[in-house]
Amino acid sequence: MNDGAHRIRTYKPRRRQLTPARAALYERLRPTWCVDVEGDRFDPVAAFGRVAPLVLDIGIGYGDSLTTVAAAQPDVDVIGADVHTPGIASTLARIEEMGLSNVRLLHGDALRFVERLDPGSLAGIRIYFPDPWHKARHRNRRMASAANIERFHQLLATGGTLHIATDIDDYAAQVRRLCDEHPAFDGGVIDRPADRPETRYERKGLAAGREVTDLLYVRR
Ligand SMILES: C[S@@+](CC[C@H](N)C(=O)[O-])C[C@H]1O[C@@H](n2cnc3c(N)ncnc32)[C@H](O)[C@@H]1O
Repeated sequence: MNDGAHRIRTYKPRRRQLTPARAALYERLRPTWCVDVEGDRFDPVAAFGRVAPLVLDIGIGYGDSLTTVAAAQPDVDVIGADVHTPGIASTLARIEEMGLSNVRLLHGDALRFVERLDPGSLAGIRIYFPDPWHKARHRNRRMASAANIERFHQLLATGGTLHIATDIDDYAAQVRRLCDEHPAFDGGVIDRPADRPETRYERKGLAAGREVTDLLYVRR
């Protein structure tokens, strides 16, 4: 899986500093809830202390959707990933407030972290409102590139799901094309699942008049 594609950055670097209170909270909670981006093979049983379906949520923003779904699905373990420090700090605060034991966070590039996962080890991958990368010369930065769709397929167990939501029509078309062409994915556009909370980014898109597409593919 290590073909170097993970070195293409799918995110925009942002340098927002934490307030002193948020920085203290981050330092206090990070050792308990964050897993390392780099390292040996990731052992979910050691990390969560149990055997359970494991989902990777890539690009969690401020973690509202991640934590709401984790609370509603206590039998599923989830790793929420983002590179954005204020978002990770907010999510850490929510995890503590809500007393969630089935969430771990990855502060860094999810595409590097997946090198630590066994093939077929994920029950699901969720990508809600990936960065759009509109310009043609930036398209190779999209999370749903051909190389990453192949990587996601390898990470999913048989019957595992790839759920992508986007408010960018040509992004949805790209996901459909790549997944429809993939010999081991079945699926397509679905109605918005009632149990998928509206995200911050989604609200901005809806306010701007954009339409949201949910795509769900199952690994054969
Ligand atoms: C447009 S925002 C959407 C955030 C959230 N899902 C929402 O809907 O409000 C996309 C997020 O993906 C994150 N992201 C992009 N590439 C990533 C990567 N390779 N690893 C981890 N996070 C990534 C960005 O930092 C950003 O917070």
